[in-house]
Amino acid sequence: MGLGYVGCVSSACLAALGHQVIGVDTDAHKVNSVLEKKAPFYEPYLDAVVARSVETGRLTASLDLAASVASSDIVLVCVGTPSNRYGNLSTEQLDRVFAQIALTLPTRTRQLIIAVRSTVYPGTCQELMARHVGDNPLVRIVSNPEFLREGTAVKDFIEPSLVVAGGEDREAVSRVADLYGSLGFAPSLVSLRTAEMIKYACNAFHAVKIAFANEIGSLAASLDVSPAEVMDTLCVDTRLNLSKTYLRPGFAFGGSCLPKDLRALNYRAARVNQTLPLLASVLDSNQRHLDRAIQAVLSLPARRLGVFGLTFKEDTDDLRESPVVALIEALIGKGRQIRIYDPNVNLEAIYGSNKNFLLNALPHIGSALTGSVEDLLQDVEYIILAQTPNAEQAATLAASGLPSLNLVKSSLDFIPRLATTNE
Ligand SMILES: NC(=O)c1ccc[n+]([C@@H]2O[C@H](COP(=O)([O-])OP(=O)(O)OC[C@H]3O[C@@H](n4cnc5c(N)ncnc54)[C@H](O)[C@@H]3O)[C@@H](O)[C@H]2O)c1
Repeated sequence: MGLGYVGCVSSACLAALGHQVIGVDTDAHKVNSVLEKKAPFYEPYLDAVVARSVETGRLTASLDLAASVASSDIVLVCVGTPSNRYGNLSTEQLDRVFAQIALTLPTRTRQLIIAVRSTVYPGTCQELMARHVGDNPLVRIVSNPEFLREGTAVKDFIEPSLVVAGGEDREAVSRVADLYGSLGFAPSLVSLRTAEMIKYACNAFHAVKIAFANEIGSLAASLDVSPAEVMDTLCVDTRLNLSKTYLRPGFAFGGSCLPKDLRALNYRAARVNQTLPLLASVLDSNQRHLDRAIQAVLSLPARRLGVFGLTFKEDTDDLRESPVVALIEALIGKGRQIRIYDPNVNLEAIYGSNKNFLLNALPHIGSALTGSVEDLLQDVEYIILAQTPNAEQAATLAASGLPSLNLVKSSLDFIPRLATTNE
């Protein structure tokens, strides 16, 4: 459904992979163009793939959605989801297609898989199903987002960087993933909502990467440093820079380097009249994340709290700019009674700027800091995990039977859940 960039490339390439494909559009020009063995728009190599696929008889095109659905096992929905005038996602084209598909269902006798390739918010597929299809047992819904880039769309399709299929019906998800099986790329089989979200995550990440490179590059240039040399050198580090590191959701960052160096960078940028909104917003973003954690702890039905971990990460005794210290400061300010245990923090052993930072923020830390997990558990109602305990510590915490809130888990358990797309 849809012979735009995603739909036409998908149709022609899937046909080239051996599938029988009907490309459907309401735009007669696009349909005729495919029937005439031509791509309806310019995209490198697409003309050739369309021509070959039509010649082999595996690709055809039609204006007749109902007849096309009736003869298909899988419908790939590739219609547009443009911004409406307020910036919200418009599902108008999707609604029209789902409504038309629904009209074909009363006479249908075999299964139909609807795979949504359009970019949509998490929850949209379920809502489209609820609005148009109901609980028809013949229909399965799968989200199958597309990651091709215009200009290299055919190449991106044939050599994908990511193949995602998500849904609650494992068999339907596998059938959609199998469409791409001959590409030899291991698909990511995920939940319906993850598949919907991942496309936004990827596009946001790409945009942030470009803006980051441009901001660092601009500051570098204005300080008479080669932007390309800086970014090329940054890319040499595939352990900390171009890697999974720092890409897991969790707690706020802190420590003696990241906040300090971001502040210095922003200060220097302002001094050379550079406006770098992305870099300027990072500490604020981090503070908001800390605020979310503070709110979550404050809303617990408990006033006596045991906090496991005090430093900004495991295996260090460096407390400078630890977000846990800021969290505890806020909790004490709101009248919570706090006990703290950190396996690496011993008030007698820390000194210098480390100790000063702690005593400035929490002057009465001495009475709150405990010397063992067992001691931490005395007279508290709830455990706050601000670090990941080792197996032995975790076992002691669990044996206490106390409820706990984990602030460092990548599932972000402290964030309230919203089940609808919530216009
Ligand atoms: N363009 C990209 O590079 C790209 C990449 C990945 C994902 N996406 C996403 O994929 C979706 C489609 O993007 P696109 O660029 O291919 O859009 P597009 O506007 O180029 O194509 C959409 C097509 O759907 C057709 N259409 C609309 N209503 C229809 C209906 N009721 N029945 C049949 N056809 C109908 C339109 O005529 C049009 O040809 C969007 O959600 C987009 O965000 C786009």
